[in-house]
Amino acid sequence: MAELRPLVAGNWKMNGLLADGPDRARDLLTLVERKGAPHAEILLFPPATLLAPVAEILRSSAIGLGAQDCHSAETGAHTGDISAAMLAEIGCSHVILGHSERRRDHGETSAQVAAKLAAAQGQGLTAIVCLGETLEERDAGRTLAVVETQLAESAPAGAMPGRLVIAYEPVWAIGTGRTATEEQVAEVHGHLRGLLAARGAEFATVRLLYGGSVNAGNAENLMAVANVDGALVGGASLKIEDFWTIAGSCH
Ligand code: PGA
Repeated sequence: MAELRPLVAGNWKMNGLLADGPDRARDLLTLVERKGAPHAEILLFPPATLLAPVAEILRSSAIGLGAQDCHSAETGAHTGDISAAMLAEIGCSHVILGHSERRRDHGETSAQVAAKLAAAQGQGLTAIVCLGETLEERDAGRTLAVVETQLAESAPAGAMPGRLVIAYEPVWAIGTGRTATEEQVAEVHGHLRGLLAARGAEFATVRLLYGGSVNAGNAENLMAVANVDGALVGGASLKIEDFWTIAGSCH
């Protein structure tokens, strides 16, 4: 299989105000200009309120922009929600869908994630669809079955493989400082690769990111695991030097 270009995504979650968010994007851009673009594709996912100013900063740079969620409908009575077309218009090329914090905080189901995926891809966005087991599910030996079901239901075979990225994020590793071991990551990523490859050649090259307490110290080892094509980074993406180190760990 052709070598896939790694992707490193910085998910700022609900962090950043106008006073510091745009500066964070500017600092990253300065690092790229000073040190040269890394091999990995780099994307930032600021909160919705910072998309417009960060889009302005990243315009015609090598760093891409994405949002943390979108609605599945094109328009309508959905107070507080944002459509995929709105994201595309503001300069987003990507969107994160089905993050475990949205599944937990907003009760999002895999079927809803699949509907959002169709809407996002229909607007030309590439979606990073998140999956991952809880600690309870892992302890019960159900990890592979859980991610298999989530993959089938959240990113079904009818999705466009060219606009799809999958992020494996064990729920117990997110924001906890506890990462999955290299063996655990290898097992799940190998399983996901097999499931995608079984859908055909186009799906076989969908990139598989690992997420869950990736930091500047553990990225090198995690990114070297077979079938890991990059990282979805939360906390450490708020520290630009660390984020840069993580991006540089993806060869
Ligand atoms: P974390 O978050 O790096 O802070 O664990 C990862 C994520 O939720 O994408």
